[in-house]
Amino acid sequence: MANDSRPSGRTTISRGRIGHLSAGLLRRTRNDGLDCHAKRCSDRRTAIAKRGMTFTIIPIAENHIPGFHAAVDAVAHERKFLAFLEAPPLDQTTKFVLDNIALKNPQFVVLSGSGVVGWCDVIRNTSRRVYSHRGTLGIGLLPEYRGRGIGRLLMRTTIDAAWQCGMTRIDLTVRGHNANAIGLYKSLGFEMEGRQRNAVRVDGQYEDVFAMALVKK
Ligand SMILES: CC(C)(COP(=O)(O)OP(=O)(O)OC[C@H]1O[C@@H](n2cnc3c(N)ncnc32)[C@H](O)[C@@H]1OP(=O)(O)O)[C@@H](O)C(=O)NCCC(=O)NCCS
Repeated sequence: MANDSRPSGRTTISRGRIGHLSAGLLRRTRNDGLDCHAKRCSDRRTAIAKRGMTFTIIPIAENHIPGFHAAVDAVAHERKFLAFLEAPPLDQTTKFVLDNIALKNPQFVVLSGSGVVGWCDVIRNTSRRVYSHRGTLGIGLLPEYRGRGIGRLLMRTTIDAAWQCGMTRIDLTVRGHNANAIGLYKSLGFEMEGRQRNAVRVDGQYEDVFAMALVKK
């Protein structure tokens, strides 16, 4: 695939929290001459070394689908964060990913070794022409990879790719108790746009859901 043939764009960082260092990285990748009409706009990768481990943020490819499916399923089974309690079936997930690749929707995975440990995507809204500047963001990391700054860098990478694809607004929804995610989204400039009361019910417990959005300046 096109992204596999790009040798450059890999960067290694070997100090503290990676989030504080990501702006320079992204400044560099923003200027790498990507043309969304000719290439997949998420066509880049970033590698991070932390405490002797290397994580790579890379555009999703077909061979990542089983790992992506397993990661989504694991986070869904925690029951606390997502809008589903198990991953969609593998065939649906496969179609979802292949469609994203074909449509050039930004979709990144985090690899540790050869395994998928997280994902982030922005799916363009194709329901109506007047919404086509908008995309919906989803993100998740396996538990042991949280709180290390990976989510912040992953989001910045994906948001930047969405802007490069011509989107100018990113929507998301987040369950009300998910303080980590809400804090991350606010710190990246997302604003609260609404509260859906008792929008989720899990194990008999209701939970509000917040609608948040980031508008390109
Ligand atoms: C949400 C998630 C992707 C964040 O990724 P992460 O790697 O854990 O987050 P980071 O380490 O990059 O932290 C990013 C920011 O989150 C915010 N944050 C973290 N914990 C927080 C808390 N308890 N309260 C408020 N903000 C918090 C901070 O702004 C933090 O940045 P800072 O430490 O530089 O100040 C990750 O925790 C995750 O996968 N959670 C489970 C799945 C999920 O919730 N998905 C989103 C569904 S809407």
